[in-house]
Amino acid sequence: MTRFIKVYSEDGVGVIQFNRPKVLNALNREMVDEIVTQLEAFDLNESIRVIVLKGSEKAFAAGADIEEMMEETSLSLELLNPFAQWDRISLIKKPLLAAVNGFALGGGFELALHCDLIIASEDAKFGFPEVKLGILPGAGGTQFLTKVMGVRRALEWIWLGEQMTAREALHYGVINRSVAPELVEEETMRLAHQLSKQAPISLRLIKEAVHAAADLSLLEGKMLERKNFYLAFSSEDQKEGMRAFTEKRTPSFRGK
Ligand code: CAA
Repeated sequence: MTRFIKVYSEDGVGVIQFNRPKVLNALNREMVDEIVTQLEAFDLNESIRVIVLKGSEKAFAAGADIEEMMEETSLSLELLNPFAQWDRISLIKKPLLAAVNGFALGGGFELALHCDLIIASEDAKFGFPEVKLGILPGAGGTQFLTKVMGVRRALEWIWLGEQMTAREALHYGVINRSVAPELVEEETMRLAHQLSKQAPISLRLIKEAVHAAADLSLLEGKMLERKNFYLAFSSEDQKEGMRAFTEKRTPSFRGK
């Protein structure tokens, strides 16, 4: 039983909906634990091919729960290490999509940045307001944003703590698409269902190779891509995909 998220699935797409709308889905530790646990469950569930994270109308998530955090000390944080479990999100192998309406701030923005694709409402607001609280992003924000937009731009946004519009986020390559608020869910699910028809093993091998490009040298990245290419040839889906091509029919991929 989960307290802070709702979970459902639809035709191979697993959805995790944040459910603390009164505090704009502020992420307390129990909620993050529920999200991560459910992500891992979907990742292991053979009937799920794509995962979607979504918030509520006013907010994807407005950051870590400030009330929960305010009395922490350096030592309590070091001992608890609450951000360690966020690393588990980076280990999810299936495509992970964020549907963002409203605010994605602080930890909420970091959660979206842990996703592979971000679809946002035209009036969504992204940002790292931590500087105004006398802290800094702690769940990867400085790293993700710098890799996406470069040092100078990331510094400017994170130093000033200002909110970025969806138009700006799109311009800097922070999000994939921005659509009218009422279309965010539809567009995200459309994309998710489109992905759910692709060969699942190809998708995960592509995800690993593309993410590796941000960290590895060109040669190391090419080696990893090559190994994944060779690995794909162990799958039935590779046989099915190529056979379907020669037989001029649509392939039916089973993720095996
Ligand atoms: N933590 C706890 N409660 C939060 C919250 C948060 N991050 N964000 C919003 N809330 C609560 C508010 O306290 C308020 O509760 P009450 O109704 O009980 O007063 C409720 O949600 C609605 O919020 P507002 O009344 O403030 O709504 P608004 O529309 O006027 O403003 C907002 C919206 C600009 C997002 C504003 O709520 C805000 O600035 N929130 C904090 C954003 C923030 O600083 N996030 C970073 C947190 S630190 C972090 O995330 C560290 C990390 O790297 C993980």
